[in-house]
Amino acid sequence: PRVMVLFGGRSGEHAISCATAGGVLRALDRERYDVLAVGITPTGRWVLADEDPDRWAITPGRLPQVEDAAARVQLPQDSTDREVHLVERSAVPRPLGEVDVVFPLLHGPFGEDGTLQGMLELADVRYVGAGVLASAVGMDKHMMKLVLAGHGLPVGPFVVVPPGAYQRDPQAVTAQVEALGLPLFVKPARAGSSLGITRVDDLADLPAALAAAQEHDPKVVVEAGIVGREIECGVIGGRAGARARASLPGEIVVDHGKHAFYDFEAKYLDEASVELACPADLSPEVTRRVQEIAVQTFEAVGGEGLARVDVFVTPDEQVVVNEINTMPGFTPYSMYPRMWQASGLPYPELVDELVQLALE
Ligand code: DAL
Ligand code: MG
Repeated sequence: PRVMVLFGGRSGEHAISCATAGGVLRALDRERYDVLAVGITPTGRWVLADEDPDRWAITPGRLPQVEDAAARVQLPQDSTDREVHLVERSAVPRPLGEVDVVFPLLHGPFGEDGTLQGMLELADVRYVGAGVLASAVGMDKHMMKLVLAGHGLPVGPFVVVPPGAYQRDPQAVTAQVEALGLPLFVKPARAGSSLGITRVDDLADLPAALAAAQEHDPKVVVEAGIVGREIECGVIGGRAGARARASLPGEIVVDHGKHAFYDFEAKYLDEASVELACPADLSPEVTRRVQEIAVQTFEAVGGEGLARVDVFVTPDEQVVVNEINTMPGFTPYSMYPRMWQASGLPYPELVDELVQLALE
């Protein structure tokens, strides 16, 4: 089969997507798959991309980026045409052939949020991972919490600040938020990799935190800080209608002397101050509960293919769902593949399974 590895994109997580793609490009078995690497530039242009995985690695001081090129890749045009074309400036389109499955390794808006998935549905092309609705719900922390709470899943206290609400009535919003207690986490409703997130320990810092979040999304979610361990759990879809499965959980251990929380820098640029403990040191009972809640969260949003569910385990061993990521970071060093590795599914087999699930 022909697999289009699609990455980069218009969101603030462009570089993370490139790194993810590097890992997958390295892992895809070229004897089984004909691989086409397509990058989306930060302005949204689709171009044929370098297939060399090393080109896409994140190294300290360098975030990889898809560059614009003279030759653009043209998407499948309509529902009867899965052909991908190469269009050189002022030249006739050249067919690149049919694509059997797209691996949309995109994080954040315009990729992980259902927009791209909708385009692929219209073009009648198969793709790895969540569909339109699950992607959209997973991207929007406000809708995500409503859906999870509606399914009886444990979510922490939060306040939604709709676009313009704070500007219209700062006192009312501040009063609402104050009731959550401190610390607070102020987040853009739709973003990822902790972009635009601020930990607030003093209400005086709320306006600046809201402004920082609004740079990413006019809608903001303010969450009460949860005291607990940061545990993550991988989920993979089941074959032939079987239930989704959960991996062994992992734990994020952040050096809080260096980072107020697991922020963008701690995630990607300062690996020395973060430990990904995998599997997490949890009792069998708590492990089981985390796994159950992870699968239920996946099912609640209507997930497909894969997801990583992030939870808190409180000192009295309650599990609170923080969020679901329908396209989690996916380099071989990322938590999602590491949790599967620890669960007996090594990276190349994981990548293969995801493609096979999409082709099923
Ligand atoms: N949004 C990042 C890539 C993650 O969830 O891993
Ligand atoms: Mg996320």
